[in-house]
Amino acid sequence: MLVSGNGSNLQSIIDHCEAGKVNAAIVCVISNRVDAYALERARKHRIPAFHLDHRSFPDRSSFDTAVLSLVNEHAAQLIALAGFNRILSNVLLDAFPAAILNIHPALLPSFPGSHAQRDALEYGVKIAGCTVHFVDSGTDTGPIIAQAAVPVFSGDNEETLSRRILCEEHKIYPRVLQLYAEGRIRLDGRKVLISQETECSADFLENPRF
Ligand code: GRF
Repeated sequence: MLVSGNGSNLQSIIDHCEAGKVNAAIVCVISNRVDAYALERARKHRIPAFHLDHRSFPDRSSFDTAVLSLVNEHAAQLIALAGFNRILSNVLLDAFPAAILNIHPALLPSFPGSHAQRDALEYGVKIAGCTVHFVDSGTDTGPIIAQAAVPVFSGDNEETLSRRILCEEHKIYPRVLQLYAEGRIRLDGRKVLISQETECSADFLENPRF
């Protein structure tokens, strides 16, 4: 997994793997920031954790080449980004076609970029959420695999909304990884098809309620 910060998504995925709810193993964690708490979380669970400082590489592709060799050394089959604050170059994208995932704290294609929750609040949406998607060369533009919605309340600020969204992130990312492990995710152009999907139209979200 590639991370840059707190690593609460990493923690959720570790917990789901350890509980047998995700049939996968995290083979290594790489952070471009030395102070990322995610590194500590990984080490506590005896997962190999590495810091690679992007500033010590001359350009994006040489940093990605170093990431790629660590990823390959650990025989990873999928790269999962969670709060990783770097755009990927073709070095990684070409080496892992349709095998790099990211989680974004907005209902894409609305509010891409690094201030998604703030942008959603400022726009005034009543429903916000999060998205797990394949990574392509754009910023948060890759094919969408799963989304979860949360209501936005009148008294919300960036922190309360982010917290509500994060709770959903911690559920959908492990779920997508399990779908991936089960081989149930297929790409058809920019559409993602999920096999044996449960269709349930009764479970929808309305906001406000009155
Ligand atoms: C999450 O909100 C994720 O959607 C975004 O960065 C944040 C990372 O949080 N890409 P954490 O490091 O997993 O706690």
